[in-house]
Amino acid sequence: MKILITGANGFLGHYLTGLLLSQEQWVIATGRGQCRLPFHDHSHFVYEEMDFTDLRSVRNVLLKHQPDCIVHAGAMSKPDECELNQELAYRVNVSGTENLLSVSSALNAFFVFISTDFVFDGKEDSYREEDTPDPVNYYGYTKMLAEQLVTQYKPLWATVRTVLVYGKPQTGKQNLLTVVKDKLEKGEPYNVFTDQVRTPTYVEDLAQGVSAIINKKATGLFHLSGEDVLTPFQMATEVADCLGLNKSLLHPVTSAEFAQPAKRPGRTVLELEKAKKELDYRPLSFKEGLLKTLAD
Ligand SMILES: NC(=O)c1ccc[n+]([C@@H]2O[C@H](COP(=O)([O-])OP(=O)(O)OC[C@H]3O[C@@H](n4cnc5c(N)ncnc54)[C@H](OP(=O)(O)O)[C@@H]3O)[C@@H](O)[C@H]2O)c1
Repeated sequence: MKILITGANGFLGHYLTGLLLSQEQWVIATGRGQCRLPFHDHSHFVYEEMDFTDLRSVRNVLLKHQPDCIVHAGAMSKPDECELNQELAYRVNVSGTENLLSVSSALNAFFVFISTDFVFDGKEDSYREEDTPDPVNYYGYTKMLAEQLVTQYKPLWATVRTVLVYGKPQTGKQNLLTVVKDKLEKGEPYNVFTDQVRTPTYVEDLAQGVSAIINKKATGLFHLSGEDVLTPFQMATEVADCLGLNKSLLHPVTSAEFAQPAKRPGRTVLELEKAKKELDYRPLSFKEGLLKTLAD
């Protein structure tokens, strides 16, 4: 199968490209600017520069390669940046998705969209796929609008919602665990939230789940996350304990004490029954993912 990935230079894009290549799939990795992936020698790998906010660029690349499947992992993915640059966030997360859908549809390609727990308001104990989105920030709003566009796509589609993705950074971008490690190793204090509750997702589990969706042509909405329910403060404490670092540098803060430009949903725990049943999805425990993330 020929699979085109957007945002391939990003955190998920990197792991997903590697996993699909290991399965002997053909991967057209696309991204902004130069390739930052280490797969040049692989016979099934090609990289194309493609800004998906530019319809002409999308048309050129998709029509040239005629992929069977498109995984749209590219996004403006930082909530605070989206809140502060709403016009750009709309262009990237909504109009960009619309561009991809319009050209993919002409190719009859299977469209897999990566979305977020931030489409929910965080007021419920947990969320199933069919629960109604009600985002509390602009990032979540743009992802909700893009999800709605995907549901109108005529060929086969799937949307994956995931939560706080962590793992070893491969192309530079840090995640909560690696930021905490760096701060504590430098002896610097770090503020961590106690009033946000998440099911953090190990990046390789997410890539495996997306690959199962592609291989089974599984359609509709899927929640793919970890199962352990933790606050960022608890995650950070586990990092410190695991590495024997000074956890008194971790300062517990609440959203009321430490305002961020984008409001965060309080509790986003995603239910995984559908993914377990249809994809045989079995995520690692947080402890297992943490050890893999921090291993040399
Ligand atoms: N990471 C998380 O905790 C998390 C949680 C929930 C959902 N998600 C979702 O999961 C997906 C993957 O996240 P991630 O962590 O892999 O994000 P990421 O590391 O920020 O990767 C996103 C990629 O998209 C690229 N991109 C942005 N605008 C583009 C454009 N106009 N044209 C082409 N490429 C563009 C970025 O390019 P540059 O490298 O040039 O900036 C980046 O490489 C995203 O849809 C995100 O919303 C992530």
